[in-house]
Amino acid sequence: MQRRELIRLGVASGLLGLLGLRCSSASKLRLPVAVATWNHGRQAVEMAWQTLRQGGSLLDAVEAGVRVVEADPNVRTVGLGGYPDATGRVTLDASIMEGTGRCGAVAFLEGFLHPVSVARRVMEKTPHVFLVGEGARAFALEEGFEEVNLLTPEAEQDWLRWKEQQNTPAPPPPNLENTNRIDVDNHDTVGLLMADATGRLAGACSTSGAAFKMRGRVGDSPIIGAGLFVDNEVGAACATGWGEGVIRIAGSHLIVELMRQGDDPTIACRKAVVRYRARTSDDTLQVAFLALRRDGAIGAYSLLPGFTYAVKEAGRKVRLQQAPSLLS
Ligand code: GLY
Repeated sequence: MQRRELIRLGVASGLLGLLGLRCSSASKLRLPVAVATWNHGRQAVEMAWQTLRQGGSLLDAVEAGVRVVEADPNVRTVGLGGYPDATGRVTLDASIMEGTGRCGAVAFLEGFLHPVSVARRVMEKTPHVFLVGEGARAFALEEGFEEVNLLTPEAEQDWLRWKEQQNTPAPPPPNLENTNRIDVDNHDTVGLLMADATGRLAGACSTSGAAFKMRGRVGDSPIIGAGLFVDNEVGAACATGWGEGVIRIAGSHLIVELMRQGDDPTIACRKAVVRYRARTSDDTLQVAFLALRRDGAIGAYSLLPGFTYAVKEAGRKVRLQQAPSLLS
């Protein structure tokens, strides 16, 4: 089945390539374009768009868009209100990248409302790309970010309930795959990609990661090439869902490289999902990808149904779309 799928996709895109055509399954939008994962992507693209319109840079726009979701206490998988780890502490991962290759990331960061802004500061103020844990915290404090409590009473209640279940006589094994099933129904990472009127690109993503994860666990979102990749020559991609699966295939980089070779963004996202599935026997954990080509063509694909993403293009209101999925 997987082999047939790969062959079918390969033949389809190869034939189109030979004919000098692009597959038309992705819509080409009017630049500037902003796309973001899940229903909470609506507020993200709206803010990114406004920021660009008001004279902000692309980086300002993607950072501002992601910050809105980070500050929303009702989103259980990002920033304030995000689910804590197994020990009850909220730890955050984020990354930001522009199409020139400049990028920054933080992981296992505790106590800051806007990890995406700390990631940007890592990019702009240090010779490094990636700071984690205590070092990331010290850097954030040095840069003037204030420490806050991110664990809301609602998220704490859910964590206490989860902990209680772990103590029942026959609990499911407390491994990541079990805890991560929550992500299927619970909107996951915010990933935001944007192209300006000239086709320059930037992207950012942010997450509190898998609910009740092992302490110290880091997912795909802060890993450049896994959760996010942006290249002005081609396009950008980001991922959501089961981070371990995304890391194993370097999902976002794979999609950008497939687009470089001529794949339509939807086909590229679909191939990444197929590649993921070929590497795992688990069909229950959601993995989904979103891609934006530099000319404004977008694509999305998920393993399971239910992945939504928000789109804002020039001259049109924000709209929410449902991605096609490999499984029904
Ligand atoms: N995709 C977010 C995570 O697995 O941490």
